[in-house]
Amino acid sequence: MTSALIQDILRTEAAGQNITLRGWVRTKRDLKNLVFVELNDGSCFSNIQCAFNRETGLAADTEAALNALTTGASVEITGTLVPSPATGQKVELAAATVRIVGAAPAETYPLQKKRHSFEFLREIAHLRSRTTSFGAVARVRSRLSFAVHEFFQHRGFQYIHTPIITASDAEGAGAMFQVTTLDLPALAKSGQAVDYTKDFFGKSAYLTVSGQLEAETYATALSRVYTFGPTFRAENSNTTRHLAEFWMIEPEQAFAHLEDNMVLAEDFLKHLFSVALSDCREDLEFFDSRVQQGIIETLSSVVQSKFAHMTYTEAIGELEKNPGSFEFKPFWGCDLQSEHEKFLTEKVVGGPLIVTDYPKEIKAFYMKLNADGKTVRAMDVLVPRLGEIIGGSEREENLAALERRMVEMGMKPADYWWYLDLRRYGTVPHAGFGLGFERLILYVTGMANIRDVIPYPRAVGLADF
Ligand code: 4AD
Ligand code: MG
Repeated sequence: MTSALIQDILRTEAAGQNITLRGWVRTKRDLKNLVFVELNDGSCFSNIQCAFNRETGLAADTEAALNALTTGASVEITGTLVPSPATGQKVELAAATVRIVGAAPAETYPLQKKRHSFEFLREIAHLRSRTTSFGAVARVRSRLSFAVHEFFQHRGFQYIHTPIITASDAEGAGAMFQVTTLDLPALAKSGQAVDYTKDFFGKSAYLTVSGQLEAETYATALSRVYTFGPTFRAENSNTTRHLAEFWMIEPEQAFAHLEDNMVLAEDFLKHLFSVALSDCREDLEFFDSRVQQGIIETLSSVVQSKFAHMTYTEAIGELEKNPGSFEFKPFWGCDLQSEHEKFLTEKVVGGPLIVTDYPKEIKAFYMKLNADGKTVRAMDVLVPRLGEIIGGSEREENLAALERRMVEMGMKPADYWWYLDLRRYGTVPHAGFGLGFERLILYVTGMANIRDVIPYPRAVGLADF
């Protein structure tokens, strides 16, 4: 007798086998002679139906367990796989015995057999993984994480583990979480100035906002690298697209220009969408029917399409043709708001759009300056519903130009001596980008709130569980 995952059972359909299944009860229907238990173990979207037939004679302890069974209980069920008479499933279990492993008292178990709002489920994030939606999100996350590695590993990119704790601000956005072991209450009481030379690292340290700068050090040695890890932003933005802790994928390529970067980003997204369509089909069908209608059709057509390209200047031109459509009036030099990004993708091009060559004032210090002296070789990939999903650029590889830019932005080049060394020794044109993994999952699943596509969201005022 083998114990197996439901995904394997449903895939192999080996009717006639005696098996043991373990999982959690989704529902129980007690008809006169038949008891149906829908069992789920999270290995796939589907439940397996276990049918207990009283006419064949059930053992007393199985009968007692069946009577006590409630939604959410963990159980071990044995029986024989048989072709299913029901539509929508090939096999079911002609069950012989059931043992309750852990009960879930109906009076207190919060996940009863009805639809719960996502807001309610956020309050019980430790149990929401047992719902159909969150199980599906978790499986898509898992499969697409693996797909990220597959994509880069097949193309000669080396996976680099960049640090989580850092002393440098990669984005210059100034929204970092500080890491300290100083005794803050004691310092506050003493009224003394904080002396970071006495702190753990001998200087101020922070949680990283991006692994890019460190990734560049390896790209200028290993040619093609990528990072995939947690990143942190202390922005006070309470939106459905921002988290304080999120996962980012950052490839970096030596001997590459903005054009190469755009091709890589498009191929990368299409690879991830294709994998979701082929390997997460059941989960996507659920999202399509219950969460965001048409998501499968959208992903399929994006995989076939060619992404549109537009410079920032052209994008502003498009927006200015429709001044009445926005809360925030667009003008050359403004940062694109999410309403602008949505308008461009949804109304102007009707699909993903890569916007390039932004004004230098609204982008990070490391981006390569164009010959016009005003714009940089930046690229943002925008998608309908979400706006920005990828941000990247060609990097400034010229030492003098980079130092000038840093000084202009009020940064101290000396603090970035090691980053500048990459330009001092064997410098090369290079480019990279960052994909927010949760933004990707939002796009692929059609879920509405970024807090519902990561197991335990961290945002302003939110660090439970
Ligand atoms: O555009 P960003 O800030 O770019 C960088 O960090 C660069 N260092 C990337 C690079 O060139 N290597 O962030 C990249 C992406 C965004 O496009 C977005 O998808 C995601 O990271 N992102 C967030 N996702 C969730 N919550 C937040 N607060 C995010 N901030 C950025
Ligand atoms: Mg960005």
